[in-house]
Amino acid sequence: MLSLPPPYALRPMTVADIPAVLTIDRASFPTPAHEQLYYNELVDNQLSHYQVLTRAAENGETILGYAGFWLIAGEVHISTIAVAPAERGRGLGEWLLLNLLRLACELDPLLITLEVRRGNTVAQALYAKYRFEEVGVRRRYYRDTGEDALLMTVDLSAQPDYCAWLAGRPLRIERRDAV
Ligand SMILES: CC(C)(COP(=O)(O)OP(=O)(O)OC[C@H]1O[C@@H](n2cnc3c(N)ncnc32)[C@H](O)[C@@H]1OP(=O)(O)O)[C@@H](O)C(=O)NCCC(=O)NCCS
Repeated sequence: MLSLPPPYALRPMTVADIPAVLTIDRASFPTPAHEQLYYNELVDNQLSHYQVLTRAAENGETILGYAGFWLIAGEVHISTIAVAPAERGRGLGEWLLLNLLRLACELDPLLITLEVRRGNTVAQALYAKYRFEEVGVRRRYYRDTGEDALLMTVDLSAQPDYCAWLAGRPLRIERRDAV
């Protein structure tokens, strides 16, 4: 797990985190996930890896964001990533993604994949920064809005230095100094 400067921290998501995660989920996606989905991911799905990003305070920690992936037959699929709306634009999403990708690299994947809404240019910019390339389109993939999904991947055979590059990437902290 990536080590963050206090009061921030990353840790595996637990069932007790689900209510806070759902609050962020509802504020982040047109069709929010059900509680049962996260429960199944954490309890039943042996292939899933979910983490939360927290900020410690005197009265306890606050969950600021979360991210998850599955590993299936050498393919890491990023299933979700979100930051609480009030906390966006300060580098937390990048911390979550960098952490997730480093964890994925420990599993020696052949391919890292994800889908992103065509209109979600913020997330696409983040993925492009981490060397994801657009390789396809799933037409009208999202039933709620009818929006297309862009399929973005990192192909480790085409980018054999990828995990070494990630390991050497510094943690950007300048945008959190004011906190
Ligand atoms: C996508 C998301 C996780 C990014 O998290 P964030 O904490 O706001 O992003 P960061 O501050 O870490 O920024 C990291 C990179 O994202 C991109 N980015 C962030 N905000 C951006 C903006 N307003 N415009 C364009 N690009 C932006 C940039 O590439 C940025 O890197 P840079 O600062 O070097 O330019 C967050 O916007 C979110 O939760 N969105 C709703 C859920 C969602 O869409 N998830 C993705 C599903 S595929």
